[in-house]
Amino acid sequence: MVKPGTIFTGDNLPILRGMDSGSVDLIYLDPPFNSKRDYAAPIGSKAAGAEFKDTWTLADTDDAWWGEIADKNPSLYKVIDAAGAAGGKSDKAYCIYMAMRLLEMRRVLKPLGSIYYHCDPTMSHAVKLVMDAIFGGDNFRNEIIWHYASPGGRAKTHFAKKSDTILFYANSGEVAQGKGFYPDDKALRAEISQTSMDMHYRHVDSDGRRYREVRSNGRTYRYYQDEGKAVDNVWGDVGIAPSNTPLHREYQGYPTQKPLALLNRIIAASSKEGDLVLDPFCGCATACVAAQYGKRGWIGIDISPKAYDLTLARFEKELGIFNPKIIHRSDIPERADRQKRSRDIKHILFGKQRGICNGCLYDFQFRHFHVDHIVARDVGGSDSDDNLQLLCGNCNSIKGTGTMEKLIAELDRRGLRNKPRA
Ligand SMILES: C[S@@+](CC[C@H](N)C(=O)[O-])C[C@H]1O[C@@H](n2cnc3c(N)ncnc32)[C@H](O)[C@@H]1O
Ligand SMILES: [Zn+2]
Repeated sequence: MVKPGTIFTGDNLPILRGMDSGSVDLIYLDPPFNSKRDYAAPIGSKAAGAEFKDTWTLADTDDAWWGEIADKNPSLYKVIDAAGAAGGKSDKAYCIYMAMRLLEMRRVLKPLGSIYYHCDPTMSHAVKLVMDAIFGGDNFRNEIIWHYASPGGRAKTHFAKKSDTILFYANSGEVAQGKGFYPDDKALRAEISQTSMDMHYRHVDSDGRRYREVRSNGRTYRYYQDEGKAVDNVWGDVGIAPSNTPLHREYQGYPTQKPLALLNRIIAASSKEGDLVLDPFCGCATACVAAQYGKRGWIGIDISPKAYDLTLARFEKELGIFNPKIIHRSDIPERADRQKRSRDIKHILFGKQRGICNGCLYDFQFRHFHVDHIVARDVGGSDSDDNLQLLCGNCNSIKGTGTMEKLIAELDRRGLRNKPRA
């Protein structure tokens, strides 16, 4: 069980695996981009020591993951193989690494939840296919372009790169206006340009407000200029990355820090007050800070201990929230939904076995039984129901990670086995 207001320090894969299914309303992730660069905060800055590499090799992935992907999701396997064929081993490694985490993210997301994957054109084409394979192409909602007008960056062989790509997916086709998506929030209004104002907002009402009129189905609608217009998928009005300049008022010194305005907009669009926001690559926790401002619950995960130090300082300074109000964990959480499942499964098995131990064949009270993996997990046995049975405490400890044949032979040798009953 993970409480809102928690920051984890650690690799997000095992932590995600320990989170309950369907427990999160919104996920924003801003993982390393595979930019083939390493990021480090400047020495002497308050973030010094915060660093992470942004180059992937197959050594970063676990061999078992590739097999697991092939097993769980054959389309995903093909897509990643194609990304590797086109982009090389590093792209393939990046996709495997991320796919393993995205599969868990899909599991922890509620049916009406949404996910925003922040990347850039280095990998966005491959990420799109990976996301299509995991969340379903039908659930793709937008490619958001964050256009940051930071100075500098002239290149000799191409245009200056001034945008990031954020891929927005709903978790299911059920998400609709007012049900998982909230486009009416004022964070989703943009200013109207002078040109558009001159061209379209040509009427003035008795209070001096400018508006335009739209006729549709015999009715006339008024849209006021001072109410702004609905935000579209190109976001040029949320500023630049605070990490770019120490003069930025949100500057924390953390490399790759994102602006709060960007996160405010995402959080307003896809969650409501009281919802739970998860950022599994949280850095200096911009998404968590925005969630706190927006009265949402939040959970952040980052592998770098420095990220937590900065987050704590940031919460104190910006929001006046002090440790220990923020929960800091570096353990692997235990899934509460799995505990419940194992309680349920124990009842089912007790009924099926009629209260008799599958080893010694004697009757026991419910509380004396242990749920046993017939083929032990240590030797590759699964968690599926057909690999589970009840054994009494004694049989369970004799069996250990051995087989049923061995257990029965041992019980017979000790004369501990009851006669089979009809
Ligand atoms: C691009 S930064 C995120 C910046 C963040 N959005 C912000 O505004 O501060 C990516 C972060 O992912 C973290 N990271 C990389 N691999 C990770 C993993 N396996 N588990 C958790 N965090 C990881 C890095 O330490 C880094 O802080
Ligand atoms: Zn027994």
